[in-house]
Order: sequence, then structure tokens, then C-alpha cells
Amino acid sequence: MKKVGYHNSITRKLYLSLVLMLSLSLTSYAQDAAPAATATPTASPTVSSGGDPVKGKEIFNTNCAACHKLDAKATGPALRGVGAKYEKAWFYKWIHNSADLIKSGDAGAVKIYEEYNKVPMSAFPQLSEADIDNIIAYTMEPKAAAPVPVAGEKVPGTDGNAGGISNNIILGALSLVMAILVVMLVLVNNVLRKVAAANGISVAPKEPTISIWKAFAKNQFLILVSAIFLLLASAFFVYGYLMQIGVDQDYAPVQPIHYSHRIHAGSNGINCNYCHSSARVSKHSGIPSLNVCMNCHKNIAEVSDTTATEEYSKDFYDKEIDKLYKAVGWDKENQKYTGKTEPVKWVRIHNLPSFVYFNHSQHVNVAGIECQTCHGPVQTYEIQKQFAPLTMSWCIDCHRKTEVKMEGNEYYTKIHEQLSKKYGVEKLTAAQMGGLECGKCHY
Ligand code: HEC
Ligand code: HEC
Ligand code: HEC
Ligand code: HEC
Ligand code: HEC
Ligand code: HEC
Repeated sequence: MKKVGYHNSITRKLYLSLVLMLSLSLTSYAQDAAPAATATPTASPTVSSGGDPVKGKEIFNTNCAACHKLDAKATGPALRGVGAKYEKAWFYKWIHNSADLIKSGDAGAVKIYEEYNKVPMSAFPQLSEADIDNIIAYTMEPKAAAPVPVAGEKVPGTDGNAGGISNNIILGALSLVMAILVVMLVLVNNVLRKVAAANGISVAPKEPTISIWKAFAKNQFLILVSAIFLLLASAFFVYGYLMQIGVDQDYAPVQPIHYSHRIHAGSNGINCNYCHSSARVSKHSGIPSLNVCMNCHKNIAEVSDTTATEEYSKDFYDKEIDKLYKAVGWDKENQKYTGKTEPVKWVRIHNLPSFVYFNHSQHVNVAGIECQTCHGPVQTYEIQKQFAPLTMSWCIDCHRKTEVKMEGNEYYTKIHEQLSKKYGVEKLTAAQMGGLECGKCHY
């Protein structure tokens, strides 16, 4: 029967569009789920020599990594296996205060001191003997056979966007739905007329070629449905457009030198303040000058084998260090400056609009907020990116919920008394201190 035939073709088309939409939404979820599976566990070899190598590594990274590496010379000698070179007691004396040991005329100490052109090693009186045992245990670990992917490189959930479907996909799906709706309207209209014809109901002869728009205009239900759809879609577009003004979350430009925070601040444990020293004391954090780099890189012309990853080879990293040398005009063969320099133009990542006042020292020093709270796990970034949205609501949300540290800050004692009485609370948030006043953030 003719009627059934038409019916079938319509349902087939409906199914088709349904499948299309489903597969679209599925791919968008699949993309979200994928990265979680790529996290790989790191195996840590355990050879003990009276200390805890894991703790030792931590202490080493914070105190020693600026000058020492395990397998290559840096400012100081390579330290792998150094535990076998001296007695325990020698290490305690040397690390607590190497200058004293050299002065006392200890043969080993004088020899290594001369060998390193009398570069003094910092004293570490604060390290306990147990700490030193741990470091020694760490240096006695056998060298890892193959480059191990650094755990935490892909920390699940740290991605600012994790869990959300990108706006573009939603917008795409919406416009698809709209398109399908239009097609369906045409088809439904057609089929209704064909069904009517098949059942012998004659269409009014006055309008034998009734246009689809006229048919549409007559069907109030369809008009209602499509009006609602149109409204929703445009609201979504407008909202999406407004929300993206000036938001560059996850912006990660290619830099003139591939500088890896993972390698410097992560594996080598270099403190953020070593390079971004002004974060504590001033409005800006600043990017270090290349002279700061050369404090270390006069001695570090290449990375160790274990630093290379699947994505970036040792060769790649070494070439990047060469770029640094070219920029500062360092001749590594003859170990001297040539005088030919070409400044490196780092691409600025974070950039608040000029009408916003933001001060690093207020947050880092006074409020005691970790860099990572606002910049994410920077020590795991191979490529630096903008972690936070830097929107006004981001600032305000934090001011609403973060309590101001009052202890030991004389400046606050009086204000605290007054304000806590005013609000009738013991603890004060940054908001209650005036952190929501427009003038505090806007010039
Ligand atoms: C400021 C740079 C610097 C820091 C930080 C540093 N060292 Fe040294 N270290 C040196 C230098 C340079 C030498 C070579 C001797 C000299 O010139 O004083 C050295 C030598 C040594 C030696 C003797 C190595 C040998 O082969 O004889 C040991 C052991 C040592 N350091 C351990 C440590 C430990 C452990 C730490 C961390 C707690 C540390 N160093 C932190 C610069 C440093
Ligand atoms: C050895 C020097 C060094 C250390 C240590 C270091 N950084 Fe950086 N940092 C740089 C350089 C160089 C750049 C510019 C290149 C880039 O963006 O990758 C930079 C860029 C940045 C930026 C982006 C700046 C912009 O353009 O908006 C942030 C944020 C940052 N660092 C935070 C940190 C934090 C947090 C730490 C500590 C975990 C840290 N850095 C440790 C050298 C360093
Ligand atoms: C406190 C010491 C120190 C400072 C300061 C330092 N580096 Fe490094 N850098 C290292 C060490 C150590 C390595 C090698 C790591 C390894 O072999 O695992 C390295 C590796 C590199 C590499 C190759 C790996 C990579 O990140 O792509 C580049 C390029 C580099 N540094 C550039 C810089 C620049 C640019 C600066 C200044 C902004 C700088 N470094 C400051 C210690 C330092
Ligand atoms: C309360 C949040 C917050 C904390 C904590 C914070 N930053 Fe920032 N950081 C920002 C904002 C916001 C910007 C953008 C500033 C601008 O554009 O004027 C920024 C910019 C930067 C820049 C780019 C250069 C500049 O000064 O504009 C660097 C580098 C940086 N931060 C490093 C650090 C380091 C290192 C720490 C820890 C010592 C830190 N930040 C702590 C929010 C923070
Ligand atoms: C991680 C939490 C956090 C974020 C994010 C943050 N702040 Fe703050 N901010 C604080 C805290 C806590 C204080 C109170 C510091 C104090 O004085 O003890 C503060 C204080 C301030 C003050 C001084 C207020 C006063 O009463 O004097 C200004 C201005 C300010 N923030 C601006 C900003 C801006 C602009 C942003 C966004 C770009 C921002 N903050 C993001 C936590 C945050
Ligand atoms: C804690 C800091 C903070 C406070 C308090 C604050 N703002 Fe903002 N405001 C910002 C930041 C940061 C931006 C930039 C947002 C961006 O670039 O996306 C901004 C942007 C704006 C903009 C421009 C919006 C745009 O999209 O260009 C206006 C208007 C504004 N703020 C008004 C106000 C008013 C009115 C108040 C007081 C009720 C206020 N702000 C209080 C941090 C603050």
C-alpha cells in the first residue's frame, strides 16, 4: 500500500537523523574520557643503604638540584654513587659546612674543591643526619634503564576544561538539530498531503500548490515548537559569546625557546622564586632575564638521557639550549661570551585588561597563596599555559571564600577586631575585608 511506503521512508529518515545526533554526542564524550587512560604509573627502584631514597630525592630536589645532577656535571660534580666515595661522617661535615671541612685541610675536601675551581658549595646546617642519609641513599640508586615517563605529566582533573563539553560542539549540535527540524517540517508537510491524497481527501482546489511556508504558518503547534527552539538557540549563542570575552583559559603559545617548567621546576626542583623573584615583592612576577638562565647553563649544555620523553628527544632539548646560547652570545666551545646577543621575545600568556589592578605580592606574600592555586600544577607543564580563566567572577569567587591570614600580621589585628565585630564572625574573608569593592580592582 502506498501509504505504508511513505510512512516507512519518513521513519527511516527520522532514525537516520537520530543516529547522527547520537554519534555526534558520543564522540564528544569519547574525547573527554580518553586522557584519563593515558596516565602511566612510574616504577621506582628500591635499593636501600640505610636511608630512604624517596625522601632523599625530595630533599635533593629542593636543596641540591640547583647545582648537582646524578649523572652529569653541573655547577657541582655528578653525585650518582658518591656514597661509596667517602665515610658517612665526612658527608655530614661536608654538607653541614663544606667550607669548614676544606679549612680543616681534609684531603678529599680540598681535592674536590680545587677540581671545581674553588666554587664554594652552600652550607646546609639545617639538614639532619637522617636527611643526609636519605640523600646518600638516593644517590646510590642504580640508574634507570630507559627514560621513564614522568608521572603526573598528565594529572587527570587538573585540566581547566576537564569534564565540560566544548561550547563549539554544543553549538554545532544545536545548529544540526535546527537543520533537522526544518527538514522534518518539510517532510511531515509532504507526507500529510500524500496521506490525505491516498485516503481520498482532496486538498482544497483553491490552493493546489500550497507552499510549505503557508502550511507551516497554519500549524500553530509547529510554530510554537520552532519558536522555542529559536529562542533557546539564540540565548545559547549570546551567552556563549558574552562568556568568552577576554577569556583565554588554557592559552599555551609556542615560545621562542622551548622552556619546560616540568624539567626545571619539576624534575630539578628549582624554586619558582629563583626565576620569578619579584612575585613576592611587587605587583608583577616578571620573566627572568637570560643572565639568570646562564647562572646554571654556563655549565649545563645538554640534558641527561633520562630527561628525554617520547615526545621530545634529547637532541631536541639540546638544540633548545643552543638557542639560549645564541641569544646570550655564549660560545660553548671556548666558554666565553662573544658579545653578539639577540633578545628572546617570550610570548606573554597571562594578560589582564589594563583597567584591572592585580598585585602578586598581596596574594603571594600577604595572603600566602601558593602559585599553583592560580597557575595550576606548573611544575608538570612541559609547555606553560593559562590555567585560570582570569575572569572577574574567578577573582570574586576566591575573595568570597578565602579567609584572610591574620596571625602574626600586626597591620590586621586592629582591623580584624573592628570588622569581626561588625560581621559578628571570628574569621574574615577577603570579601569582608573589602575585596569586592570595585575600586580595589578597577582603576
Ligand atoms: C650552590 C651550588 C651547590 C649546591 C646547592 C650544592 N652543592 Fe654540592 N657541590 C657544589 C660544588 C661546586 C662542589 C664541588 C666542590 C667545591 O667546589 O666546593 C660540590 C661537591 C659536593 C660533593 C662532593 C662530590 C665529590 O664527588 O666529591 C657532595 C657529596 C655534595 N656536593 C653534595 C651536595 C648535597 C647533598 C647537596 C644538597 C644538600 C649539595 N651538594 C648542594 C655545589 C653545590
Ligand atoms: C629556571 C627559571 C624558571 C623557574 C624555576 C620557573 N619559571 Fe616560570 N617561567 C620562566 C620562563 C623563562 C617563562 C617564560 C616562558 C614560558 O612561558 O614558558 C616562564 C613563564 C611562567 C608563567 C607564564 C607567564 C606569562 O607569560 O603569563 C607562569 C605563570 C610561571 N612561569 C609560573 C611559574 C611557577 C608557578 C613556577 C614554580 C613552580 C615557575 N614559574 C618556575 C622561568 C622559570
Ligand atoms: C638553577 C639552574 C637552572 C636555571 C636558572 C635554568 N636552567 Fe635550564 N636547565 C637546567 C637543568 C639542570 C637542565 C637539564 C635538565 C636535565 O638534564 O634533566 C636544564 C635544561 C634546559 C633546557 C632543555 C630542556 C627544556 O626545558 O627544553 C632548556 C631549553 C633550558 N634549560 C633553558 C633555560 C632557560 C631559557 C633558562 C632561563 C629562563 C634556564 N634554562 C634556567 C637548570 C637551569
Ligand atoms: C591569586 C592568584 C595568583 C597567585 C597566587 C599567583 N599568581 Fe601569577 N598571575 C596571576 C594573574 C591574575 C596574572 C596576570 C597579571 C596581569 O596580567 O597583570 C599573573 C601573571 C603571572 C606571570 C606573568 C608575568 C606578570 O607578572 O604579569 C608570572 C610569571 C606569574 N604570574 C608567576 C607567578 C608565580 C611564580 C607565583 C608564585 C610565587 C604566582 N604567579 C602566584 C595570578 C596569581
Ligand atoms: C586564590 C584566591 C584569590 C584569587 C583567585 C584572587 N584573589 Fe585577590 N585576594 C585574595 C586574598 C586572600 C586577599 C586578601 C589578602 C590580604 O590582604 O590579606 C586578596 C586581596 C586582593 C586585593 C586587595 C584587597 C584589599 O582589601 O586591599 C586586590 C586588589 C585583589 N585581591 C585583586 C584580585 C584580582 C584582580 C584578582 C583576579 C585577577 C584576584 N584578586 C584573584 C585571594 C584571591
Ligand atoms: C576582585 C577583583 C574585582 C572586583 C572587586 C571587581 N572587578 Fe570588575 N573585573 C575584574 C576583572 C579581573 C575583570 C576582567 C575580566 C576579563 O577580562 O574577562 C573585570 C572586568 C570588569 C568589567 C568589564 C567587563 C568586560 O567584559 O569587559 C566591568 C564593567 C567591571 N569589571 C565592573 C565591575 C564593577 C561595577 C565592580 C564593583 C561592583 C567590579 N567590577 C568589581 C575584577 C574585579
